[in-house]
Amino acid sequence: MSKILVLGGAGYIGSHTVYELLDEGFEVVVADNLETGHRQAVHPGAALCVGDIRDKAFLDGLFRRERVDAVIHFAAYSLVGESMADPLKYYANNVGGTQVLLSSMVANGVDKLVFSSTAAAYGEPKRIPIEEGDPAEPTNTYGATKLAVEQMFKWTALAHGLRYVALRYFNACGAHPSGHIGEDHSPETHLIPIVLQTANGTRPEIEIFGTDYPTKDGSCVRDYVHVCDLAQAHVKAVRYLFAGGENSVFNLGNGVGFTVREVIRAAEEVVGHKIPAVYAGRRRGDPAALVASGSRAKTVLGWEPHYESIHTILETAWRWHRARPNGFDEDR
Ligand code: UFG
Repeated sequence: MSKILVLGGAGYIGSHTVYELLDEGFEVVVADNLETGHRQAVHPGAALCVGDIRDKAFLDGLFRRERVDAVIHFAAYSLVGESMADPLKYYANNVGGTQVLLSSMVANGVDKLVFSSTAAAYGEPKRIPIEEGDPAEPTNTYGATKLAVEQMFKWTALAHGLRYVALRYFNACGAHPSGHIGEDHSPETHLIPIVLQTANGTRPEIEIFGTDYPTKDGSCVRDYVHVCDLAQAHVKAVRYLFAGGENSVFNLGNGVGFTVREVIRAAEEVVGHKIPAVYAGRRRGDPAALVASGSRAKTVLGWEPHYESIHTILETAWRWHRARPNGFDEDR
């Protein structure tokens, strides 16, 4: 049985990937510093080691002890707004932490890595849908740090034989069908949790950021992809590396865009009542539309997303937000 180390496995996408890996029979070790992750999000079938990727001694100890076959790396800061206010925090963790990780992997003879990258690497797209070979010119620090890491992989592969897959996600959303895990960020900035927190009464209203974009109803268009489909893609990427696949970058999106207003309307249908919304100005740095071409991941990795309907995606998220209005922390 192959053993996978999941860095950031207590976070949103990481925790769902751990569930998927265990379902598919992998042995899993999670490392997380629990700064933004949740201990309760870690599947009881995975061992949790609390530590930071910037701590080389911690990583060296982990690699020596656990003898893992591959690493999936989610450990990063991921708030676009914060990345603009405090860019060096993002470089130190996202880029600096990954540099420490790569040195430890090289020193310990671990050569396979699947990386959590982002559509933010593209910046303002030149065309829709976006393909992997399109220009990558980030418009925020978060995207810039993820792109810098992808470039670090390229040179580490040349020098030390690193084998990697970088997965550029579009808008991750939804929750595990078991209802045990879901999205819980603090502060929450993402559209779908905010819409559903408004629906369950945790918030008074949702603000629609921008109604004058050149889109069909003036609000921004995004490609919403279910977190379990993202999780499945990571497992496919690990198998691809085990099978000798080449170093590569893949988009993960459904290839269909929804406006902010369409998401709110679909959420109203799912929850069965109106959700109070108000118009607000544009949020700095938001591109008008981001939609992936996900066809490469399907052809090369054999990725088969199961949640292509926005209603089904919202239903899984609603089950989570309704059952756990305070997320993992029942007392909050
Ligand atoms: N939005 C609102 N009101 C809100 C929150 C969001 O109108 O209260 C809008 C945003 O302006 C945007 C859309 O809803 O048009 C989606 O916003 P999110 O914050 O949910 O997601 P983003 O598209 O900004 O960001 C996502 C990921 C980032 C990643 C980015 C890639 O969360 O990690 O896609 O561009 F960097």
